[in-house]
Amino acid sequence: MAVDPRRRRLLVAGSVAAALGGSALWLRDDATRKPLEPISGEPPAAAARLAAAGMLDIVDAAQPFTISARLIEHTLAPEHQVHMLAYEVEQAGRTYLNPVLRIRKGEVLTAKFWNQLDETSIVHWHGLTVDANNDGNPHYAVRGGAIYDYRIAIRNRAATCWYHPHPHGGTANQVYQGLASFLIVGDPDDDALTRALDLEPGASDIPLLIQDRRLDRSGRFVRAAGATEQFLGHLGAEPMVNYLRRPVFDVTPRLYRLRLLNGSSARIYRVAFVHGDRPVRFEVIGADGGLLDSPIPAGESFLAPGERLDVLVDFRGLAAETEVVLRSLGFDAMQASLGALCRTTPPAAMPAHVQHADARPAIATTTEPPIDALPDGSPIDLMTFRVRAGPRYDRAVPRRLASAPGIDTRGAAERIFTLDHRNMQWRINGVRFDMVKTQLNVALGATEIWEFRNPPDGMPHPMHFHGFAFRALARIGSPPAVRRLALDQRGLAAAETGWKDTVLVWPGERVRVALEFKHDFPGEQVYMLHCHNLEHEDQGMMLNVRIVPPGSKRI
Ligand code: C2O
Ligand code: CU
Ligand code: CU
Repeated sequence: MAVDPRRRRLLVAGSVAAALGGSALWLRDDATRKPLEPISGEPPAAAARLAAAGMLDIVDAAQPFTISARLIEHTLAPEHQVHMLAYEVEQAGRTYLNPVLRIRKGEVLTAKFWNQLDETSIVHWHGLTVDANNDGNPHYAVRGGAIYDYRIAIRNRAATCWYHPHPHGGTANQVYQGLASFLIVGDPDDDALTRALDLEPGASDIPLLIQDRRLDRSGRFVRAAGATEQFLGHLGAEPMVNYLRRPVFDVTPRLYRLRLLNGSSARIYRVAFVHGDRPVRFEVIGADGGLLDSPIPAGESFLAPGERLDVLVDFRGLAAETEVVLRSLGFDAMQASLGALCRTTPPAAMPAHVQHADARPAIATTTEPPIDALPDGSPIDLMTFRVRAGPRYDRAVPRRLASAPGIDTRGAAERIFTLDHRNMQWRINGVRFDMVKTQLNVALGATEIWEFRNPPDGMPHPMHFHGFAFRALARIGSPPAVRRLALDQRGLAAAETGWKDTVLVWPGERVRVALEFKHDFPGEQVYMLHCHNLEHEDQGMMLNVRIVPPGSKRI
């Protein structure tokens, strides 16, 4: 495929920028303690719609569509023009950028992925129950210019899923440059909630993609890719929500359903809503795998990369012009010992394939030095809700949302996964990802308990599994900030009582989850188990897991 010369120039200039070292001084050094001020200009004016210009429109994914990954030049907000990557979806003669795909259980998603990048890519449907062919995992990545066809009969219950690239070694950069959005599944339970609360998608039922980036003075995305970023994961210098920098959103005095997704490479958020310095409590109604049985009140929640948190926030009883901030509260990210390791280990210790990943061109053409990141665990204001007068609203949160029984674990076999590092490389059970090796075979139909063990000298790892949602059973040995959120002696926070596909494992913790390997796809299916810290995933903190039907000799 021919490359447009303008694009070629950008890519080359980007590699130069990526190769520059040094530290930036123009971000105030008190930024880690105070909520961020915008780097330039005022925050965007309050908007009635919460998305960057022309992005996150709703598309009915039950109608066939083409989805291209490509480089675009886009005006995210007035005076914020960038070169970024985006998914361009074409359907019935209309085009959309990073749309929110909506589909219902029982419908069929038919999509043609066209990779218009200069590197391999593939679309992964994070959270969807699919056969390996339709999963969009690294085994199916296609080179630039190639096409991949999907046909997926939707088996999931209603859930907030998302889509993003998954080429091995290139995921972190492609997501960072702009390839990520939502895939929202509906079903009758979800319809009932929508009716009970009079919710409207895009207006009062709002997906929030939370990410962090480093933007240069002109607002272009800059990605640092040094040894520290590869080892700890890439951290940005400021947050973005739905591709906007700290947006302000007008709300009326009513209930809002907010579907939070952490689409960051590595940053963990400790999300809370605050008004002045008072917390605004909310109801947790869903997690990665859909609605909880009943709402659970909460004041805060950790949200790790890959995780979703579905909440109801009540803006009634707040005076007009009141501002409610979605904030990530400060916390101890538990990686102090590793920072020192990064500073003392020469980059030459990095393996060849990571150096190759380093050389991937960043899109920004800046020649400014890289911007210092906010350390993980820094308090950050993500966005603001501003209360406006509105019509009277008197709906109450339903006490019952769905019925999603757990997994019967009697007689379940147990497996242990130890998450450690060696030579600046993260590993699962002492091994790193190998495309052609399957480290784990599981019998189709089996029920298993998996225990993730994170040694105390590690860092938090959000562990994600494709193909099957799971139920968390227990957190053991949690740090105090995590234990504080436990609902009962199992040690689980509100959202962790629902179906999950990603679970955060803190240093020193053991997290036990139950999985039921039931599906109706014929033959063997291979799925990925990996850390959703995207730099960890890219450097190989990932395993192939093969689901094997009865009678196979592999078990
Ligand atoms: Cu969202 Cu295998 O990832
Ligand atoms: Cu996934
Ligand atoms: Cu990790």
